[in-house]
Amino acid sequence: MKIACLAGDGIGPEIMAEARRVLAALDLPGLTVWEGDVGGAGYRRHGHPLPPETLEMAKAADAVLFGAVGDPECDALPRHLRPEQAILGLRQALGLFANLRPATLFPGLETMSALRPEIAREIDLLIVRELNGDVYFGEKAIRTLPDGRRQGFDLMSYAEDEVRRIAHVAFKAARGRTRRLTSVDKANVLETSQLWRDVVIEVAAEYPDVALSHMYVDNAAMQLVRDPGQFDVIVTGNLFGDILSDQASMCVGSIGLLASAALGETQTAFGTKGLYEPIHGSAPDIAGQGKANPLAMILSLAMLLRHSLGREDDAGRVEAAVAATLGDGVRGADLGGSASTHEIGEAVLERL
Ligand code: IPM
Ligand code: MG
Repeated sequence: MKIACLAGDGIGPEIMAEARRVLAALDLPGLTVWEGDVGGAGYRRHGHPLPPETLEMAKAADAVLFGAVGDPECDALPRHLRPEQAILGLRQALGLFANLRPATLFPGLETMSALRPEIAREIDLLIVRELNGDVYFGEKAIRTLPDGRRQGFDLMSYAEDEVRRIAHVAFKAARGRTRRLTSVDKANVLETSQLWRDVVIEVAAEYPDVALSHMYVDNAAMQLVRDPGQFDVIVTGNLFGDILSDQASMCVGSIGLLASAALGETQTAFGTKGLYEPIHGSAPDIAGQGKANPLAMILSLAMLLRHSLGREDDAGRVEAAVAATLGDGVRGADLGGSASTHEIGEAVLERL
């Protein structure tokens, strides 16, 4: 079992250190752990946010554990050298098109949600975000029009096979839950979304046991705070999924709690190859201060254990230790507490 750990920028190294301690405590037989540079750190040390040696390492690994990328000092660089290109490049190079972003309210955190407790309590949803297409990867540029005005553009497109494969992932995920799938689009305005909706409906014929509904993304954003309990699985495109998952995080109390798995079609000896990362960014404003919540990172490790290493038991143990940590009131600044990054990691280890 080979895991590539790419800590990245900002709070990435701090939260990665805690996840690594949890991983070490599990004492998995036959485990090899590699470390590589990405993001601004990759640029500084190797001149590229996704250095070739890091990419090779990620390709050779069964799973990638990813911290965060983003560094304000790199924002003036040409886009292909900016830290974010590391994660976008890995998603694309490894064919990781299916992004699973679960959001569940941990018992005890009802009052930390941006929503009223009785509404927050009902949250138990999974966002299935398409990760290899959409405006993220379309033709894009800032060009000068004949009349001299500058114009920015990003091409939004989805081919039907791209929609079909993510729809299958979502329908299968719904089968493992309460069999309700909401496809989120903007078909009232966008042709890309019209095709998305048409293809999802075609795929639905293979899953008569799953109740499919469609929702425009503006309405979905509203429903997510009005009544998030109505959702089981949400499937949506790259851009809408990015936005809705950040929104979902505040519904469960903190963006420091949401983990994610990016999966493709490559199978390993133990499961599906994937990349695992917290949904949050590098938070440069609090980097190096021990204020970051490592739980999203640790929960991402749990997803890695489950999906790529076939270690469901260990994944469940880690998740239970995180739930117990929160239940016992161990909280960082993001949840109104004072525990440091390291203390939170320590608390998870004790409970593990
Ligand atoms: C995420 C992040 C990334 C994204 C950034 C860092 C490129 O916001 O994983 O949600 O937009 O996908
Ligand atoms: Mg995001």
